[in-house]
Amino acid sequence: MNPTELDLLVLGSGVAGLSAAVRAAETHKMRVGVLTKGELPQATTRWAQGGVAAVLHGDPDSTDLHLADTLAAGAGLCDVEAVRVLVDEGPHRVEELIAMGAIFDRDMHGKLELAREGGHTLPRIVHAGGSATGAEVERALVEAVQATMAVIHEHAFALELIVESQRCRGVTALFADGTVHEVRATNVLLTTGGAGQMYSVTTNPFEATGDGIAMALRAGVAVTDIEFIQFHPTALSVETMPRPLLTEALRGHGALLRDSTGERFVDEMAPRDVVSRAEIRRMVELGDNHVYLDATGLDGFNERFPNIAKELRELGLDPGKDLLPVAPAAHYTCGGIVTDLRGASSLPGLWAAGEVSCSGVHGANRLASNSLLEGMVFGPKAVEAIEDGVSGPEASGAMRSVLGVDGDGPDRGAGGVIGGMMTHLEPVEPADIDLSAQRTPDAVGDSRSHLQHTMTMNAGVLRDRDSLEAATKVVDKELALAVGNSVADCEMRNLATVARATVAAALKREESRGAHTREDFTETREELARRIVFI
Ligand code: SIN
Repeated sequence: MNPTELDLLVLGSGVAGLSAAVRAAETHKMRVGVLTKGELPQATTRWAQGGVAAVLHGDPDSTDLHLADTLAAGAGLCDVEAVRVLVDEGPHRVEELIAMGAIFDRDMHGKLELAREGGHTLPRIVHAGGSATGAEVERALVEAVQATMAVIHEHAFALELIVESQRCRGVTALFADGTVHEVRATNVLLTTGGAGQMYSVTTNPFEATGDGIAMALRAGVAVTDIEFIQFHPTALSVETMPRPLLTEALRGHGALLRDSTGERFVDEMAPRDVVSRAEIRRMVELGDNHVYLDATGLDGFNERFPNIAKELRELGLDPGKDLLPVAPAAHYTCGGIVTDLRGASSLPGLWAAGEVSCSGVHGANRLASNSLLEGMVFGPKAVEAIEDGVSGPEASGAMRSVLGVDGDGPDRGAGGVIGGMMTHLEPVEPADIDLSAQRTPDAVGDSRSHLQHTMTMNAGVLRDRDSLEAATKVVDKELALAVGNSVADCEMRNLATVARATVAAALKREESRGAHTREDFTETREELARRIVFI
């Protein structure tokens, strides 16, 4: 082995990546590198509000109930074994995080406070700083990783996976000084998050440009469930981008949704896809561009949700008196790089965890507050698999859709096996970056806005064949233009690559299921309880 080669290169610095890096560097003394395009704490994780769903206190709750709620939200596409791993191992990872120094909110007796969110039968969400959970989780993990020997590369933008002899060997990356270098490693773990920035209305930060999913698609690594983009129902309807999130825990605490006539129109505790759809339909019916969250009846708003109270105050809103204008915003990429239950992708040496991946835990619609949990469970699992000498994927979790069935028909065995429909994504030329090409920042910005607007109008909460075909034309055009050498252009190329897969999968899925609603195919079709896999 090359002495300069790392044992593990982690791309991304959110909960999945840093949990893995700490485990690898501290417990297993691996030579670890963490490479991120921003600064270490600048990951989507720090934007997460609600908390971490985990059954820590036993009765009357149980991991079986958490599993059942997750499966119900996932609308028939969750992998049961993957969810079992999530709910069973999650509580241990939360305890580890607490031992590492993360401070979660406790009641006056020192017991962890539990919140309830949509789709959860019982309160089981631990939270920090009221609704600043992601920031606290990120703080604790950044401190933990900085205390290890891991080599940190900040402001380094991963361009492509290095694939040699059918194995991932590292990445090429564009560094802040404009030079491109190889960072070589025996194993690469992608934890680069989702692609919410495909949309003009999103809760995701500017950095959420689908970089890992796009690199995987270009390298022919299997990607699935990418049509399931989750829209959060209560993003504050103001011009700011990203949209300020009003955590789902507010509804768990008793806040109500009302239309512009003051009428309630949906069960506020239903899963997100149901609530977002109901909102859009009501907005269309009444010709409005938002509905309202009514938190006027909540006790102790400022104490329980201090960060949201502050943000509202700055916008001149008083939740004790004002109805808060809200609308759905792109929030979470439910699909991603197909993995088995230990995080192995279809390319040996390449692993994925967190929002960039699809292990099968979310199905067609992620249950609230299962995302931080997924990162802290599946990041370390990949490290354990590497430590155990695992070299490639096995037919477990979502990987069963690639390796376990022949793709000829639905195959849903006792373990909840879900078959796959294999799809090839036709390349759009020129697909390769041209390091001598230049586009002005304004030109790239216009391209990004055009793509975001198109996706929001045509591939959002509601879609149909016409809208998706119209989106395809724009996405293909923008993808062909995105060949420049700047980070902004590379991000644009990644956004367009993921958008192209999203639209193609959404066209192929001729049914409505979870976060994917086709106006021209309104029913859920049992024979389509299968994954669409790009490979
Ligand atoms: C929220 O607090 O509503 C968001 C948490 C999540 O995305 O699960």
